[in-house]
Parts: sequence; C-alpha cells; structure tokens
Amino acid sequence: MRNHEESRTPVTVIGLGLMGQALAGAFLREGHPTTVWNRTAAKAGQFVAQGAKLAGSVAEAVAASPLVVVCVTDYDAVRKLLEPLGEVVDGRVLVNLTSGTSQEARQTAEWAERQGAAYLDGAIMAIPQAIGTAEALVLYSGPRSAFDLHEPALRSLGAGMMHLSSDHGLSSLYDAAGLTLMWSVLNGFLHGAALLGAAGVDASTFASFARQNIGTVADWLPGYAQQIDDREYPAPDATIGTHLAAMEHLIHESEALGINADLPRFFKALGDRAVAEGRGGDGYAALVELFRGASEVRA
Ligand SMILES: NC(=O)c1ccc[n+]([C@@H]2O[C@H](COP(=O)([O-])OP(=O)(O)OC[C@H]3O[C@@H](n4cnc5c(N)ncnc54)[C@H](OP(=O)(O)O)[C@@H]3O)[C@@H](O)[C@H]2O)c1
Repeated sequence: MRNHEESRTPVTVIGLGLMGQALAGAFLREGHPTTVWNRTAAKAGQFVAQGAKLAGSVAEAVAASPLVVVCVTDYDAVRKLLEPLGEVVDGRVLVNLTSGTSQEARQTAEWAERQGAAYLDGAIMAIPQAIGTAEALVLYSGPRSAFDLHEPALRSLGAGMMHLSSDHGLSSLYDAAGLTLMWSVLNGFLHGAALLGAAGVDASTFASFARQNIGTVADWLPGYAQQIDDREYPAPDATIGTHLAAMEHLIHESEALGINADLPRFFKALGDRAVAEGRGGDGYAALVELFRGASEVRA
C-alpha cells in the first residue's frame, strides 16, 4: 500500500460539497496521498477515516500538494479562498472544477499565473455518483504541459477526460453549450409528456418514443453543423416557413388541451423573426443567426 501511494501524486481537494466529496473519494481510491480542506470541517471526517489529511487552513492545504483541485459553489467563493494566499500558490498546478463563465475562468487564470501557478480550468459533465467511472466526462483547458504532467492523477476522476485548448475559457464554454442542449432537450420532453399525459399516455411510454426521436434529430447535426460553419442554409428537407406552420399547430394543440404553450410560443417567435428577416425559405439551421445576435426574441 505504501509503495502504491508513493508512486501516486499527492493531491489536495478544496471544497467537500457533493462534488468535492466525490473527487476526494476518487483520489483516495486510486491511492493518491490526499489532503482536504472544507469551510465546514466536519465534512472531512469520512475522508480522514480513509487516510486523508485534514489541512488546518487553505494555505496549508495548497502547500501540501503539487496538484490542487478546487471545487466550490462558484467563482466568488474561489476568489475569497485563493486570492488572500498570493504566492502560496507559486509552483502549484491549480485545477479549478467550479462551474462558472469563460470570463471568470480567464480572470482566475490571469490571477493564478501572476502568482506563479499553472492553472487548468475544468468542467465536470457528470453527477457526483459517476466520478471515478468511465461515464464521467471532465473537460480541461489551460496549458497542455500542466495537463500532461497530472493526467494520470486526473484520470482518477473518470476515464472520460479531455484537454480542449490552451484557452482557459473553453471548458466553461463547452459546459454552457452542454447545458443549453440539456435543458432544451429536457424541456421538449417535459412539454411532450404533458401533451401526451392529457390523453392518458404515461411518461414512461413516451420515453421510448422520445429516445428514438432524439436520436433521429441527433443524426441531423453533422449536416446542420456544416451549414452553420459555411453560413449557408439551403433547405432540402424543410424551410423555416414550413416549420413555422407546425409551430402554430403546436401552440393551438397545447392551448386546446390547457397545456402551457410558452415553449412553442418561443419557437414561433424565433420563426417569425427569421421570416421577418427574409429567411422564411432557408433551412432551420439559419436560426443560428438569431442566436448569434445579442438582441432578445420575445414570445
Ligand atoms: N453536484 C453536481 O452534480 C455537479 C455537477 C457538475 C458540476 N458541479 C459543480 O461543482 C461545484 C460544487 O458543486 P457541489 O454539488 O459540490 O455543491 P455543494 O454540495 O453545494 O457544495 C458547495 C461547496 O462549496 C463550499 N463553499 C461555498 N461557498 C463557500 C465560501 N464562500 N467559502 C468556502 N467554501 C465555500 C461549500 O462549503 P461548506 O460545506 O462549508 O458549505 C461546499 O464545500 C459547483 O460549481 C457545481 O456547479 C456540480
């Protein structure tokens, strides 16, 4: 056990919320000498029982390991914890797995690099229960050399890991893109479940149809992606005008059943705006031009 531990990089985990606990547990399972710190120290008890060291302060925690993983609520908390440390972080690799925006990631990177630390910003695309399994996807951005140095240790968190870019903001941006996709699909599923539920079809029955439907739409993505990259939107399948008529049906169906129609009203507002801009004959992917703009589309 001792030899096993000696060959593993010492790691510090700062933040033992639901996710931080999963991260600390994964490092311990893989035999990494692990130091932990949490604002509420009582949460560290189970890890100390498994062999982790509890640091008495954030500075002590950072000083304990060459690889320091931070996972707290938000970047405000990250700033409050790390900024008072100044040069204590010098020479460390700081891996921040706290969710935030790409701007926050880049600002934190600037601060960390001024103090002499190498900084990787990460995004965890998994729930705590998946950490340490093949299902856990964790995205990293920042200097490739820091990622390569600690890749074996970071692999403890999940086999699905990826270094995206030296741009520190990119993992947060991927996270944001994943969230908008996730909520869009889930909201569509929930609205569909409400529609079918009005006719007595239960959500479990709808789920298998929905999975197939989502798979069909997923197959369209490479073709649409090519159009988006080319900024040309031919409509060999259906025009926005055709989609718009179906969006109106969806609003009427929802209203007739007493189902909330806010979601299809938003779809229709996008379609109306595209038609007003002369894009009614374009393919659906042309709506990306509305998403590219900053102005609001009101349902
Ligand atoms: N849970 C998930 O499924 C999931 C998935 C992907 C990404 N994430 C991201 O992981 C991060 C942590 O999430 P979580 O689920 O672990 O949240 P959580 O269970 O609410 O834990 C929050 C952690 O942040 C600490 N904290 C908050 N404010 C602090 C402050 N001002 N100073 C010091 N510590 C502070 C808390 O300390 P105390 O224990 O003292 O309150 C706790 O350790 C978030 O950015 C979240 O978006 C979570």
